[in-house]
Amino acid sequence: VGPRLLPFQCDLSGLWRNELRSLMEIHEVNDAGEFSGDYLTAVTATSNCIRRSPLKGAQHDTKQRGQPTFGFTVNWEKFSNSTTVFVGQCFVDDKGKETLKTMWLLREEVGSPGDGWRATRVGTNVFTRKRNVERGKILQQHSPPCDAPTPTPTAQ
Ligand code: BTN
Repeated sequence: VGPRLLPFQCDLSGLWRNELRSLMEIHEVNDAGEFSGDYLTAVTATSNCIRRSPLKGAQHDTKQRGQPTFGFTVNWEKFSNSTTVFVGQCFVDDKGKETLKTMWLLREEVGSPGDGWRATRVGTNVFTRKRNVERGKILQQHSPPCDAPTPTPTAQ
């Protein structure tokens, strides 16, 4: 029995979580396969307060390929000088469950080309779909404390 391919399966739009408990919300994938979204990482190589960060990517046409490949870039500049690129493929199991198998490269800014040897980390992440109750609003609710508005000081 092969995967049960439903019409909108492996369309990346929606809310996803990986094994680190990082969340990403992908907005609508357009006709050219391009998409944007937000990423809220659960971990950081910096000592800075994590902030929700924008992502941009492209995926192959889900109408032509049941288990399409994709890639996206996350720009962490709100709290880090690094950039991550992810590449991956969406798989559908025999129960219809979607899984994104990805590999990533995380490039950190270094002072000179001679320090390039220590500038790149590599790894894998597996994402599964989370039920998306309110499209586009989920990551705002999960935002870390440093994304919250600064409370107005009250007179003592
Ligand atoms: C940084 O620490 O400089 C920025 C955040 C990097 C988070 C990485 S990206 C690859 C891995 N997967 C995640 O979900 N988070 C980490």
